[in-house]
Amino acid sequence: MTSKSVNKPLEPVREPTAWRPDSWQSCPVTQQATYPDKADLDQTLEQLTSLPPLVTSWEVSELKSQLAEAQAGKRFLLQGGDCAETFAECRPEVISNRLKVLLQMSLVLVHGLKIPVVRVGRFAGQYAKPRSADMETRDGVSLPSYRGDLVNGPEFTESARVPDPQRLLRGHARSAMTMNFVRGLIDGGFADLHHPEYWDLSWVDHSPLAVEYQRMVGSIGDAVRFMETIAGRRVGSLQRVDFFTSHEALHLHYEQAQTRKVPRKWGWFNLSTHLPWIGMRTIALDGAHVEYCRGIRNPIGIKVGPGLSSDALLRLLDVLDPDLEPGRITLIHRMGASNIAEHLPPLLKAIRDSGRPVLWVCDPMHGNTEATSNGFKTRRFDNISGELKSAFDIHAHCGTRLGGVHLELTGENVTECLGGARELTETDLERAYKSTVDPRLNYEQSMELAMLIGRRAGDMQ
Ligand code: PEP
Ligand code: CO
Repeated sequence: MTSKSVNKPLEPVREPTAWRPDSWQSCPVTQQATYPDKADLDQTLEQLTSLPPLVTSWEVSELKSQLAEAQAGKRFLLQGGDCAETFAECRPEVISNRLKVLLQMSLVLVHGLKIPVVRVGRFAGQYAKPRSADMETRDGVSLPSYRGDLVNGPEFTESARVPDPQRLLRGHARSAMTMNFVRGLIDGGFADLHHPEYWDLSWVDHSPLAVEYQRMVGSIGDAVRFMETIAGRRVGSLQRVDFFTSHEALHLHYEQAQTRKVPRKWGWFNLSTHLPWIGMRTIALDGAHVEYCRGIRNPIGIKVGPGLSSDALLRLLDVLDPDLEPGRITLIHRMGASNIAEHLPPLLKAIRDSGRPVLWVCDPMHGNTEATSNGFKTRRFDNISGELKSAFDIHAHCGTRLGGVHLELTGENVTECLGGARELTETDLERAYKSTVDPRLNYEQSMELAMLIGRRAGDMQ
């Protein structure tokens, strides 16, 4: 998904010791599905192991070098997409609408920040979900929790909730279809800066934000024409962008089956995605997820919640990044608007004093989830934007840099989060609530947040 496939390798690291793609299997493991038929699972994993990878090691290395630049303050990371992709939503209009939102947001960010944006989708494999309980009970009936389409179905029936290994193959195939379509769009000129109208979403003509956005597009168009007039030619690099993928490295059998060696490079790569991340619930130092991630050469994201101490974070980094490799670690803090002022500063100071290269990213979504009186899981736009604003202030105060944002969003016209320019209310949630897991920002709310970041981050430079 990147044009610059031949990049300088970043090679300061040693091969991890006593690690194999399956060494996680002897560590304590949480958040895994219990398959009723082990032989069936093994057979499916064997097939998955023999299928082509979804990304290449060149792309993974390219992303790592872009993240290294982001750590050095030269880029900003925009990571976004669904909380949980579903097989049913693997449809062209859903994929292209999500791409449109991310492209529009990145345009707004580049305009405000005046530095390149690294675009990473939470897509093409975000099919497995951690759950707070193994079982779900409704009206006295208990069934296994829905763990994402990679594992089982969301319907509350016994047959849907039984983990089915065939879903691993379907998840792999849908990830491949998603990536194939995204690559085709990007390579075909969809992201061309000469044609930002390609990314317009039809239902937003009357958006309260449209005027500001169109003004930005206009001024970028002027800049492009100015540059090309000076250069005396059309600038090719404005016709396409890099796009990378990410998902939570949660289902370890799936991740292991896509972990590969490649010719002329040492070590192992997870080739199911460019940027796997470790979720907050699977962050135990001696746990299977940390063991798995320490051995792969991809850049790694780590979700950092309010329960993690500075000591625990530093020990985690000793294991996951023993060589202080540029681009290796992205720390995604998700504290909640009311917790961030207390919990973030000690972590920032500890990492700053350790001299470790990390990219700090704010996820203002996962610490701000609440239930409404009419039974919806939602998030308030004010809490999301409030956490983000606090994050900028706290980083500035600690002498660190907020280098990115991690969001749950969609290009669909959903009503899942409250507030925003259109002031969505609890009653609006009944109209278009589609997420199977967490509530996402819709197009307008996403753009509003991008404008806020563009303004804030621009002010700080
Ligand atoms: C998520 O990103 O969807 C998620 C579950 O996040 P966290 O691990 O931060 O709770
Ligand atoms: Co989520």
